[in-house]
Amino acid sequence: MMAVSLAQRVASLAPSATVQNSDQIRSLRETGRRILSLSSGDPNLVTDERIVAAGCRALQDGDTHYTASAGLPRLRERLAARECVRSGRQINADSILITPGGKFALYAALQSMVDPGDEVLLPDPGWVSYAACVRLCGGRPVAVSSLGGFDLDELRARTTDRTRAIIVNSPLNPTGRVIPKEELSALADFARERGLWIVFDQVYCDLAYDEFPFLQAEPGLEDRLIVVDSFSKTFGMTGWRLGAFIGPEPVRKAVAKIIQHSIYCVPGFVQQAGLRALELEAELLPRYREHFHKRLVPTQAALARLAGWECPLPSAGFYLFPRITGDDKAFARDLLDTKAVAVMPGSAFGAAGAGHVRIALTCPEEEIAEAVAAIADFERSGNRRNV
Ligand SMILES: Cc1ncc(COP(=O)(O)O)c(C=O)c1O
Repeated sequence: MMAVSLAQRVASLAPSATVQNSDQIRSLRETGRRILSLSSGDPNLVTDERIVAAGCRALQDGDTHYTASAGLPRLRERLAARECVRSGRQINADSILITPGGKFALYAALQSMVDPGDEVLLPDPGWVSYAACVRLCGGRPVAVSSLGGFDLDELRARTTDRTRAIIVNSPLNPTGRVIPKEELSALADFARERGLWIVFDQVYCDLAYDEFPFLQAEPGLEDRLIVVDSFSKTFGMTGWRLGAFIGPEPVRKAVAKIIQHSIYCVPGFVQQAGLRALELEAELLPRYREHFHKRLVPTQAALARLAGWECPLPSAGFYLFPRITGDDKAFARDLLDTKAVAVMPGSAFGAAGAGHVRIALTCPEEEIAEAVAAIADFERSGNRRNV
């Protein structure tokens, strides 16, 4: 009998560290263990009941068929209008494709621009799926330090004639850093100078606590800028799988074909729920922003007091990314073993994340307080074996 084999691009693919972590917590909980999870990127927000009702109503009204592959025209128009207001850039509904989450928008964009052996610059530390999506396209991820800001000399040094694109994420996961305007301008100049696509992942932009500069506002990017957006973090809609791709015609046509031949479309009732979410935006967003900020401030203050920890207050989102002492992987493992508290080791987000942990404030407030007290106790009581 002839043996079967896997394609090279998946054989070397590591599982998602964050999804694996969530699966591990789920299994531990199934054995009856109580785990306090500060590791999930899925906030404990229940989708607003009016959004849920809109989805249910659409289903009951018979919205059970394929929809336009690019997405409902009304949703694309609403997103285009919103994008103009937010970024100051003029865009029309044709530039937008509705996708199942931001992740698929990113993946399809990379599929459209990366040939086997091509290189893509991406932030380190950065979201765990960037490198994997590049690898799935047969490309080579090239990490560039993003901790204190992108360094143009490093970017230039890491660019070769195979470099096709740079992924920019603001606010950044895992650090919560908002990229300032001057840095965005420098990145835009760099992309133009080197003839690169620039993929801007703005899925946390609605959770910025101060002014948020949009890369779209930079001039002269019309032919190369792709924006990845999502309803997940903005509206507490992670499980609905609703996001958007925004980009210029050639790449948009390519992504449209990928959508047609892979998923066909995002379910109509999910898009109807998204339309309702946009109607409620002015009411919901300030509330959600305040909800997360109220968690961030005291937690950051408590963690910053721990001996040897450096814990800056991020300008957006619900992640803290403190520098700790010792090995981050051993810290996360021992904390889970001894205190039943889950955090993500910083090195899961790239080599530059080593020595940090990502603390996600996505569980109920009482659990956050309990978990922070357990971390303080862990640090004091010599439970750590790794320093
Ligand atoms: C930086 C970043 N981009 C994109 C995504 C994708 O989100 P979704 O596919 O739920 O829209 C995530 C999810 O955690 C993320 O952290």
